[in-house]
Amino acid sequence: MNREEALELLNENLKTENLVTHSLAVGAIMKELAIRLNQDKEKWEITGLLHDLDYEITKNDPENHAVKTVEMLNDKVDDETKNAILAHNEKKELETNIEIALYAADQLSGLIVAAVLVRPTKDINELTVKSLKKKFKDKAFARGADRDKIKEISKLNIELNEFFEIGIRGMANIKDELRLDG
Ligand SMILES: [Fe+2]
Repeated sequence: MNREEALELLNENLKTENLVTHSLAVGAIMKELAIRLNQDKEKWEITGLLHDLDYEITKNDPENHAVKTVEMLNDKVDDETKNAILAHNEKKELETNIEIALYAADQLSGLIVAAVLVRPTKDINELTVKSLKKKFKDKAFARGADRDKIKEISKLNIELNEFFEIGIRGMANIKDELRLDG
């Protein structure tokens, strides 16, 4: 599977614009994390792109979220990717690098999207690490973005500030695809 095939699969299965944006954002962060950790960047990006593939069919059945995605992907991806997808919905313990990365990136993407959307220009290039850090500390801001899950990135020996920088950079790289500015 390459990026293009993953995008096709994504667009076939997710019709909600926010979910597609979320998937693209997580893919972009995963790619940057792979580069930082000398891992397979296409595989990590695809894992991010596809991690919520079943969302529209399991939204009323959260127990099956991720389990269903793995079924849908079948032999299109390898076990490392499938395990990362399972682990992001706590269907498996966090063990490998890619599992930890997806678990944390899933939440960081939400914080970054929210931080960009409150800016008047909605331009990710204007979002600084310092400002994102402030938003991270503000518990009332973007409550859905689980700070403890974001902190799991420390298991990969990446400090929070660096993770913020990686996340912003990854998402800024695909700014036009994300269309956060409308
Ligand atoms: Fe997600």
